[in-house]
Amino acid sequence: MRNKVTKAIFPVAGLGTRFLPATKSVPKEIMTLVDRPLVQYAIDEARAAGIKEFLFVTSRGKGALEDYFDHSPQLEQELRRQGKDELLEILKSTNMDSGEVAYMRQHKALGLGHAVWCARRLIGNEPFAVILPDDVIAAEKPCLQQMVEAYEETGGNMVAAMEVPADKASSYGILDVQEDMGSMVSVKGMVEKPAKGTAPSNLAVIGRYILSPRVLKNLNKMKAGAGGEIQLTDAIAQEIGGEEGVYGLRFRGQRFDCGSKAGFLQATVAFGLARDELKDDLRRFLHEVISVEKAAE
Ligand code: UTP
Repeated sequence: MRNKVTKAIFPVAGLGTRFLPATKSVPKEIMTLVDRPLVQYAIDEARAAGIKEFLFVTSRGKGALEDYFDHSPQLEQELRRQGKDELLEILKSTNMDSGEVAYMRQHKALGLGHAVWCARRLIGNEPFAVILPDDVIAAEKPCLQQMVEAYEETGGNMVAAMEVPADKASSYGILDVQEDMGSMVSVKGMVEKPAKGTAPSNLAVIGRYILSPRVLKNLNKMKAGAGGEIQLTDAIAQEIGGEEGVYGLRFRGQRFDCGSKAGFLQATVAFGLARDELKDDLRRFLHEVISVEKAAE
């Protein structure tokens, strides 16, 4: 029997410079899509996939993130007093139980690989998931759940893969595909941010992974790679051709890069349109804006 994936690492120690000045005091992961912070979408996705332990790799200035998961007795009491039961339930659903969540510091932003490595002692010798909360995925079946189901068949290491246009490939880790099995591919190489025109495929890795503990051992030995950072991609790539191998899953769903301003705005519109109480007004507003723009052209 394969080990179940019950632990997830959430690396949230990055500087979030693309959202300055906001990220001077607000952690990027606390920024809200409609009314929920990015990190809540990530937690909900992880829970749906069977994750029981949530390991946050944080950094200086991320206190708001820790507070977000705390119980808020005063607020709960006030909502109860006002009879706002629905809000009370929403609020309670964000609480984390004692022992369910752990925080550790990445003392220097040395890259995603290094951030994941910081959680090594809490992972031990089990497979684990990594979720980047900047990547928000709208999907009927949550992305990590799709991956856990596929992983039950393959074991090894699995990354979420998405097709990207050729001119965007240099912004991603790109898979070199050994065998294309439809929704799943086996991988014979991975290149982090390939130079223009050198990408081995159009399949990009996005922020969801299920990894073997061997990847942590690889990270133990690693030095900085592309961009002077310790790259997670490089540590995963070392498993290619080994006993366990690396697979990519073409997940079903739409991914928004909420680490970028354009992606964040698109996600705000998409998630707003998905909400019954907002969609009519929002749609009307968008039509108006577009027709005013067209008239001005
Ligand atoms: P990004 O590449 O988006 O970097 O990191 P960033 O610092 O968050 O944002 P920008 O580019 O300055 O705007 C991708 C993910 O990896 C985490 C980030 O928190 C984010 O979830 N990360 C990155 C770390 O935890 N530590 C690092 O050293 C680097």
